Amino acid sequence: MRVMIVGSGGREHALAVRIAASPMVSYLCCAPGNGGTRLVAQNLAVNPEDVAAVVALAKREKIDFVVVGPEAPLVLGLVDALADAGILAFGPRKAGAVLEGSKAWSKLFMQRHAIPTAAFATFTDADAATRFVQDSGKAWVVKADGLAAGKGVMVAADVAETLDAIERIMRQREHGAAGAEVVLEERLLGQEVSYHVVIDGERFVPLAAAQDHKRLQDGDRGPNTGGMGAYSPPPVVTAEVEKKIIERVVVPTVRGLRADGIDFRGVLFVGLMIDHGEPRVLEYNVRFGDPETEVLMARYGGDVMPLLLGAARGDLSQLKPSWSTPVALCVVLAAPGYPGTVKKGLPIAGLAAASQIAGVQVLHAGTVADADRVLTSGGRVLCITASGSDIDAVAVQAYAAVDRIHFDGMQFRRDIGHHARKSS
Ligand SMILES: Nc1ncnc2c1ncn2[C@@H]1O[C@H](COP(=O)(O)OP(=O)(O)OP(=O)(O)O)[C@@H](O)[C@H]1O
Ligand SMILES: [Mg+2]
Repeated sequence: MRVMIVGSGGREHALAVRIAASPMVSYLCCAPGNGGTRLVAQNLAVNPEDVAAVVALAKREKIDFVVVGPEAPLVLGLVDALADAGILAFGPRKAGAVLEGSKAWSKLFMQRHAIPTAAFATFTDADAATRFVQDSGKAWVVKADGLAAGKGVMVAADVAETLDAIERIMRQREHGAAGAEVVLEERLLGQEVSYHVVIDGERFVPLAAAQDHKRLQDGDRGPNTGGMGAYSPPPVVTAEVEKKIIERVVVPTVRGLRADGIDFRGVLFVGLMIDHGEPRVLEYNVRFGDPETEVLMARYGGDVMPLLLGAARGDLSQLKPSWSTPVALCVVLAAPGYPGTVKKGLPIAGLAAASQIAGVQVLHAGTVADADRVLTSGGRVLCITASGSDIDAVAVQAYAAVDRIHFDGMQFRRDIGHHARKSS
């Protein structure tokens, strides 16, 4: 089978490694891929958000199956366009991608289907939003409705910050049309976790729980980022908590999608806050998380193709995932300036030495190959992933690999997995 992965991050490299290893796959390309995916696949230059160009490329390459990494092409209808061209794809159609593409829609969906989430109100009028906040006399989490590359959410500390966020999102349109509507949400407390389920339109297969680290610095301080590292499984998701996640969130979500006439096929990433054992939904994403995918792919037992294909074909009835590797942890190495404007084109040293450490995989995110050198090309540059049977040992391996890698101004956290590690 000829397979194409759309995207260029660490998530796509992690998927590429597992898909390339499948006996079902005769050819794999990444559109456009990065400096790491070229080692396991053919990189083909294309803009993932140019739907017509991606479809044309898939046709030219005689692709049988496309795995879509990022959310933007899904929201733009890439899977619908591929289906029109007779090409099977992993990922929801536009109608399902709205769960991530519109935060207002997803909050109303949760309300309609009685899925636990923070209390909220939605506004298309900035004056009305302002009055609501002033009348409430308290701080709110302010979310731009549309896609904003992970930068459209402000967890305000007080009324003034809340009003400032409304001003920037709705009046100054810092995120463009994504700010035409806002969601004001009550702030939830607790520990954040990521729960992925693969859905075939009807049935679902839960993947292992994972935990991302959103803030730039150790101790969960500093600005929010796309994610500085992840590990799986997080201890906060006990068997009892997982049961609640399935019963109160996953089952009503999958049922709600069907009730709303949405044939959702792909992966649903549920962002949750767990407070005293009670799960509440922070958000839905309609694609694999990054960096969660790096640890999920490191733990998944066996071939991943039946899981991806089963969802796309609408039949996961025979699928039993196994998590043959007990734990995995990944550390993101970010460029200087991240999460703001970053410096690119920096040479990276030590990649081969790092990958020699047992249990370690050096996954690329923002890198490009330049002759025999690898250069930085984005904010999150590499994702050093280690897997094994003990979280403390795995952390030691991952950081030993990190210590072999260098580029100017490299930023990373030393405390990834701190909720689970005995030695952090
Ligand atoms: N109601 C809330 N209470 C407390 N914190 C929140 C709340 N909603 C969001 N957050 C924080 O803000 C972050 C971003 O919010 P959210 O996940 O909705 O936005 P996003 O931009 O879609 O994120 P991502 O890029 O992870 O998809 C969350 O990971 C969480 O840390
Ligand atoms: Mg999101």
